[in-house]
Amino acid sequence: MTGPVPPFIQELQQWITLQNQNLVKWETSGAGTLLERQVLGSFHRLFYQAPAAFYGQYIQDPSSSLGNITSGGTLSNLTAISYALSRKLQDAGATFHEAGLMKSLQDTGYTRAVVMGTAHCHYSLQKVMRLLGLGTRAFVALDADELSGAAGSQILDAKIRHLQAEGVLVIALVGVAGTTEAGRIDPLEMMAEVAARHQVHFHVDAAFGGAFLFSDQYASKLKGISDADSITLCGHKQLYLPMGTSLCLFKSPGLAKQIEINSYYQARKGSVDLGKYTIEGSRPFSALLFHGALQVIGKEGYAAMVDSNYARTLLFSEKIRSNSHFQLYRHPDLNIVLYRYVPAALREKALAGRLNDAERTLLNERNIYLQQEQFRRRESFVSYTEMPDETGKRHVWLRSVLMNPDTTAQHLEEILQEQLTIMHASEDIKTYKSKEYGNQ
Ligand SMILES: Cc1ncc(COP(=O)(O)O)c(C=O)c1O
Repeated sequence: MTGPVPPFIQELQQWITLQNQNLVKWETSGAGTLLERQVLGSFHRLFYQAPAAFYGQYIQDPSSSLGNITSGGTLSNLTAISYALSRKLQDAGATFHEAGLMKSLQDTGYTRAVVMGTAHCHYSLQKVMRLLGLGTRAFVALDADELSGAAGSQILDAKIRHLQAEGVLVIALVGVAGTTEAGRIDPLEMMAEVAARHQVHFHVDAAFGGAFLFSDQYASKLKGISDADSITLCGHKQLYLPMGTSLCLFKSPGLAKQIEINSYYQARKGSVDLGKYTIEGSRPFSALLFHGALQVIGKEGYAAMVDSNYARTLLFSEKIRSNSHFQLYRHPDLNIVLYRYVPAALREKALAGRLNDAERTLLNERNIYLQQEQFRRRESFVSYTEMPDETGKRHVWLRSVLMNPDTTAQHLEEILQEQLTIMHASEDIKTYKSKEYGNQ
């Protein structure tokens, strides 16, 4: 899922290496410090659209922060949840930074602390739970289908109410926009509304799908994101920036103030040093890449890329849907398509969701074989993932992320044709056809 990096970004990257600025403090990155704040303000404005006076007051105000530039989506998610945890416990009267998690929970009378989110949240959230000492079992996984259904709001409301009544601190609710595996978007608007009702921090992990906000045509897919208390957005995913570029935006300029850590040689109290608000210490001048991208590509350029990638995605989905050898997983919310090869004998059962275990295992094996064989041939590439069905059984799906602007309809056709060639040439498939289902 790595996009091509535009040539001007490669040049900026060279300059960053040459200058080797360190964004931890003003003395090692004067202009960089100001520019990073400016970039965070620009992205904040794109996502939250606060009034001009808000940006006039906060963009360069060293006693607040509109976000962090981090080296990845994992760190952005860690930043958001750890700052939410700090705020919740400090607001409840605990001296969390000094006393730590266990003592703070005891002091505030909470039985335990949890984070909620749909079961398909990125696995980086598991790392976050472990790193914060909460444990992965303290992640309350919600059923994404249930949440997207008509009763989603009542179900979520009841779950939070129930936990809070039991004395549990619900730190945050995480919505994904969209999932890495299938590009699926959680019902953000509803989640934001329920989270606000219960004073739960609402974080949106838009590491992959956040770029859709730039498109006037498709921004509505992310409706509700502007109500998030924090947002993860990766530059190295759909913004075509190099690896190691991500943002964590804070709706409230005061969020970071709560976690400020100072020292006497840098990140001093009252200084403009960014290091007092970030988890990472030394950081590169990645803000310049975001800045360059906003100046050269701009919202309009990103919108054009999102629109054309999504148009290609719909075209590819249609090709798959109309090809009797393949099955489409679901209509793609974003530019990720999941599908699988299905032999004719199993097609009806696969489409009706009536595969037995042996048939499912066989289909899984065949699709893994197909993916690996295609990778081995080096002509084209799709990845694969596993998705659970409604009974929790896992199905293998081929996975295609459409974000290369040079991909044509002809390329897409050729990928499917190559896959059919591979499967038709497969000895195993021939054996399987004749043994299990008779000649087709
Ligand atoms: C939705 C989502 N969140 C978080 C991450 C983690 O980002 P990174 O790999 O940059 O740490 C990813 C990466 O694929 C992602 O897709």
